Amino acid sequence: MSDILIEAAGVARHYRLSEHRTLRALDGVDLEIHRGATIGLVGESGSGKSTLGRTLVGLQKPTLGKVVFDGLDTASPDRATLAKLRRQRQIIFQDPSSALNPRMTIGDTIVEHLRVQGWSRADARARAAEVIEQAGLSAAFLPRYPHEISGGQRQRAVIGRAISTDPAFIVADEPVSALDVSTRAQIMNLLRKLQADRGTTMLFISHDLSVVAHMCRDVAVMYLGRIVEIAPRASLFETPRHPYTAALLSAIPLPDPVRERIRVRTVLKGETPDPAARPSGCSFHPRCPRASELCRTTDPKMRPIGERQQVACHHPIE
Ligand SMILES: Nc1ncnc2c1ncn2[C@@H]1O[C@H](COP(=O)(O)OP(=O)(O)OP(=O)(O)O)[C@@H](O)[C@H]1O
Ligand SMILES: [Mg+2]
Repeated sequence: MSDILIEAAGVARHYRLSEHRTLRALDGVDLEIHRGATIGLVGESGSGKSTLGRTLVGLQKPTLGKVVFDGLDTASPDRATLAKLRRQRQIIFQDPSSALNPRMTIGDTIVEHLRVQGWSRADARARAAEVIEQAGLSAAFLPRYPHEISGGQRQRAVIGRAISTDPAFIVADEPVSALDVSTRAQIMNLLRKLQADRGTTMLFISHDLSVVAHMCRDVAVMYLGRIVEIAPRASLFETPRHPYTAALLSAIPLPDPVRERIRVRTVLKGETPDPAARPSGCSFHPRCPRASELCRTTDPKMRPIGERQQVACHHPIE
């Protein structure tokens, strides 16, 4: 059994906007996630985080490249493999309200999810009662409708549904962004408990670096459809190598006032570029304080730098 649960190899996702314009939401992503690991995925709005998450769980097909899950190429699975892939890969979205059918009770929603997987009604009901508790709600919530419970409780119900098939891999796409601050902490604790108790492998997407710092051992940074830096959490936060990572970090307050004072603020110049009009060379060069002629012409490849850290930059921060 390989140590890697899920792998993206050269994954691209293109959207044809018109005859001459193609938007590359993903532009060649390589990513390996080890069994039991949680990787955080950060980057500005539109950088392709959700597209990567949806592609990894099979909600979208890559235009190029492949996704390998548990040693299986997910491109054209047979029926048995497809069922396994559906069961084993789940996604939790930002907005629990739109993820739930308003006309179905929480219990029926979970039962329905399992019925599609071939569970008998009786087994599905028993399982729903079990997972709703694991998600931190009581069985009393099963007969309730989504509008009858709070946002945090709805997200718990969504998480209960996601874990009902005992998935090995969960993509959590901004799972706490729509929740108020106190509920956020509860849901993050629940997700951490799932990591610890079930060994669930996760991709945790958030534009909020402090949330990611809390949840993830490793963090990947996306810029215009590519991963530009990946590193263990501590290395990424303490010694970011990519100027874009440094800029993202400078946009959040640090908990330590001393580090906060000595920190050199890198200000991101300009707007996020249009993914349908990607700059030449390194796509970050128009906004980069370190850009040279080389950056304007030549695309930097991902390369190792330091302990388990990788960066795609010609002039990484020392
Ligand atoms: N169906 C589609 N057709 C055309 N373009 C799309 C489609 N879906 C996504 N895109 C574009 O792909 C790019 C990446 O979108 P994606 O939703 O993955 O970004 P994101 O990093 O998740 O952003 P956010 O932080 O706002 O959620 C964006 O430029 C988006 O407009
Ligand atoms: Mg998104």
